Amino acid sequence: DMGGHDTYMHKEISEQADAVDRVLRGRIDDRFATVHLGGLNLDAREARGVRRIKILGCGTSYHAGQIGAQLIEELARIPADAEPASEFRYRNPVVDPDTLYVAVSQSGETYDVLAAVQELKRKGARVLGVVNVVGSAIAREADGGTYVHAGPEVCVVSTKCFTNTVVAFALLALHLGRIRDLSVADGKRIIDGLRRLPAQISEILANEDEIKKMAAEYADAKSMMFIGRVRGFPVAREAALKLKEVSYIHAEAYPASELKHGPLALIEPAMPTVAIVPDDDLLEKNRAALEEIKARSGRILAVAHQVQEKADHTIVVPKNENELDPILMGIPLQLFAYHTALAMGRDIDKPRNLAKSVTVE
Ligand code: F6R
Repeated sequence: DMGGHDTYMHKEISEQADAVDRVLRGRIDDRFATVHLGGLNLDAREARGVRRIKILGCGTSYHAGQIGAQLIEELARIPADAEPASEFRYRNPVVDPDTLYVAVSQSGETYDVLAAVQELKRKGARVLGVVNVVGSAIAREADGGTYVHAGPEVCVVSTKCFTNTVVAFALLALHLGRIRDLSVADGKRIIDGLRRLPAQISEILANEDEIKKMAAEYADAKSMMFIGRVRGFPVAREAALKLKEVSYIHAEAYPASELKHGPLALIEPAMPTVAIVPDDDLLEKNRAALEEIKARSGRILAVAHQVQEKADHTIVVPKNENELDPILMGIPLQLFAYHTALAMGRDIDKPRNLAKSVTVE
């Protein structure tokens, strides 16, 4: 049942305020400025012993894990990184007993992720799951974890589950942070930010008509560049993946800082750029990248907290805490991909060559 929407993708994008509300519900502990995640199976002493966190997933879940790794480093100061599960399992990785492994999956059935979890467990590692589908293979195989509570996702391309997965990582990061060195004041600041998310998501979604008009401006592109820096980079990667999957337009994501090391050669009017420009300590750096693109006559669509003079168009999104901004900045670009694909007459819920869960090698 699409509940009045023409596609599941549109329905699922539209459900995100409620979905985020659901992943937060019942978990916030205001007294200790932390959150409780029931099924983690990791007591405070064990959590303090974790020296490193390795996050494994595929596709959109991998991108959510990249944001998750940054949240964990920022809030809990535990070294963390994300890697595609498929790469990890074939490179004979060093499995370290002080590392906590986190497997991320919407379906909980992705074979590459499941195989990585099984290999890790065979070697005695502790593996948590950040999974959407309750009782799925990865959820059962993991030692503990947290559900993402996005609700059923039918469209082959993942949208609401991406957002909820990142929020679930913010909760995990806050939890780990408050067991370690994150202050009460910072814990409260993040909790207040999390509570603002659902209303801010609704605010972004209310701009759909404007985003649709902008999508029409770029629909002639054969290829698009997506750039962001640090917190903005996984957002750029995910937005590029969405555009590729549903519209079949080639899209390439780069850290904004790497532009001058090569991809700037591609910039010309026929190669528009989507730039993630949060109002944080890297704002001036990001603005400089926009200037470099403009100097080569590149068209620019910015997703930012204020109108960017160098951009041809800006989608203005509400500001949250710096750490949580990536959660919001990807949402207008889901609509951007959707409306681009719609205008091109694509089969939005079932893009060619793709399946909802990849249960084969
Ligand atoms: C992207 C997409 C895929 C999946 C990937 C992992 O829109 O749908 O990239 O994210 O196949 O799937 P899960 O999260 O089910 O493990």
